[in-house]
Amino acid sequence: MRIQVSGMALLRIRKYPDPVLKRPAQPVTKIDGALHSFIESMVQTMYAAPGIGLAAPQVGDSRRIIVIDADQQNPGRRLLRLINPEVLELDGKITWEEACLSVVDYSAQVQRAARLVVKALTPDEEEVEIEAEQFLAVVFQHELDHLEGKLFIDRVSRLKRQLYRRKLQKLIKEGKVENHASPSAEA
Ligand code: NI
Repeated sequence: MRIQVSGMALLRIRKYPDPVLKRPAQPVTKIDGALHSFIESMVQTMYAAPGIGLAAPQVGDSRRIIVIDADQQNPGRRLLRLINPEVLELDGKITWEEACLSVVDYSAQVQRAARLVVKALTPDEEEVEIEAEQFLAVVFQHELDHLEGKLFIDRVSRLKRQLYRRKLQKLIKEGKVENHASPSAEA
């Protein structure tokens, strides 16, 4: 489903437990105009949400694409559009409070590496290496997890996850949250 907002096609953000979020994404094999416009729609969808990162599986597309803009003061200045990202280095430890556009009404402390180096292709087919630390390293790892079919709630304790599932079921039952468990919930 696409929603037209001021001429720009926004993509529908899939919410847990939509099965597409559990599916590992496949490498992009062709960079063409269709891919460029899909990535621009991802960027607009991320800004509209608003969010600081978005991975293609979150909009129902199982390809290895992420967009990140962690600089909320200057939107666009540090926007990253990355294709087939791969981790080259991971170091240190950091704990951060994470949330996700695909996980309704929840945040939790997650432990991650404090620094990483990622290699990826840009939409111009340029190979780039990016080093990220602290908050940006957390954002990267969160988005890279999406490409493996993993959510941050898979990185909290089983008890916390069960409590969240129970809370979500209650919200769905009360009609406060749409049920995304099956594709038929798509409207
Ligand atoms: Ni997320």
